[in-house]
Amino acid sequence: MIEFAHVYKSYDKNYILRDLSFNIYKGEFVFITGPSGAGKTTTMKMVIAMEKPTHGQINVFNEDISAIQPKQIPFLRRKIGFVFQDFKLLINRTVFQNVALGLEISGVSGSIITKNVTEILKAVELYQKKDEYPLSLSGGEQQRVAIARALVQNPSVLIADEPTGNLDFETASIIIDILKSFNNKGTTMIIATHDKTLIELGRARVIDITKN
Ligand SMILES: Nc1ncnc2c1ncn2[C@@H]1O[C@H](COP(=O)(O)OP(=O)(O)OP(=O)(O)O)[C@@H](O)[C@H]1O
Ligand SMILES: [Mg+2]
Repeated sequence: MIEFAHVYKSYDKNYILRDLSFNIYKGEFVFITGPSGAGKTTTMKMVIAMEKPTHGQINVFNEDISAIQPKQIPFLRRKIGFVFQDFKLLINRTVFQNVALGLEISGVSGSIITKNVTEILKAVELYQKKDEYPLSLSGGEQQRVAIARALVQNPSVLIADEPTGNLDFETASIIIDILKSFNNKGTTMIIATHDKTLIELGRARVIDITKN
């Protein structure tokens, strides 16, 4: 489903990834790991064409996205949800509005938006905070809003970049449980993290980008 073949990536002639190859299959739950600065975020951004490989080939849903046309990119991003390392929540919108925004942009009707956002906020146990603003939430709650915002689009793949960044063990376990439950319902999960505790908790395949 996602295939990296001999991928190299440089910034200003400085190679951060060299000859990276791996496959991720439909329905999998995988960790992408490596120390800080190893290129995890860059690797994930290449999957959604936010960054281009310097050399090598990346196939996503059997298409070579190294050569993707700009007008095809929105279609790709509709199928792949992305939870950013820094969340990127809109601080002047409520939890509900943050999660609803993507559906509004896609032209989904109001009643469907209410139904789907309600359902996803309940799944991440944040429905009671739907009218609060991001800055009044804890880090773990903000993370769950970011996850809900990606999952409400019902993507076939979810990429979560360091989803438990600064969270304590218990909060991290809750987030892993949420990601696992969506994986059990069919969403392919790709989790980028340097956190070994998280990887132990997740019990899943690990792709170490420094060893590929
Ligand atoms: N847009 C950019 N321009 C120049 N250098 C960049 C850019 N984005 C990333 N880098 C560099 O590439 C390297 C890898 O960055 P990346 O964010 O992918 O690492 P990471 O593995 O996600 O790290 P962390 O665990 O800290 O999140 C770093 O040295 C970073 O400074
Ligand atoms: Mg990163």
